[in-house]
Amino acid sequence: MPKSKIPAKVLAELNRQLNYELGAAHSYRALALWCTDQNLKGFAAFFAQQANEEQGHANKIAQHLLDRGTLPEMTAIPAPKQDFKTLLEAAQHAQSMEQGNTQGINAVYETAVAAKDYPAQVLMQWFINEQVEEEAWAAEMVARVEAATCGGALLDLDRHIVKLLKGEKE
Ligand code: FEO
Repeated sequence: MPKSKIPAKVLAELNRQLNYELGAAHSYRALALWCTDQNLKGFAAFFAQQANEEQGHANKIAQHLLDRGTLPEMTAIPAPKQDFKTLLEAAQHAQSMEQGNTQGINAVYETAVAAKDYPAQVLMQWFINEQVEEEAWAAEMVARVEAATCGGALLDLDRHIVKLLKGEKE
């Protein structure tokens, strides 16, 4: 492959973000497994879908790099958190990952602006919009889990969570 035309700082940020998205996919798979183990099939299905979305986000960045003549650089992915005590803790973990992801996306964007890298800016504008959605469902998830204060309410929420959080997107 020819030498990358992407400014070095932007390239480093894009590679970092690519690996963060892969880490998010890994973490959502861990959340799906934890929920399955807890017989929370609805939440498991939601987190499994989310893992696929994160893989899609990683693919989008990887394709951008490839289209600009650059081989994406994969790094090791940290072990995901798996030891949740409650569903609320799991939901809060998802929310804090999304908040962290928004900071990461903003950092890529700021670097692309400083470097006048217009293609990376446009790519990141898609992600900036996406993070508005991601943070919205994460906040809704935490609020709904907090509101489900008895076992019956939690089972009912589990049955409907995919539709509640993803219904309008599909
Ligand atoms: Fe790739 Fe959850 O944002």
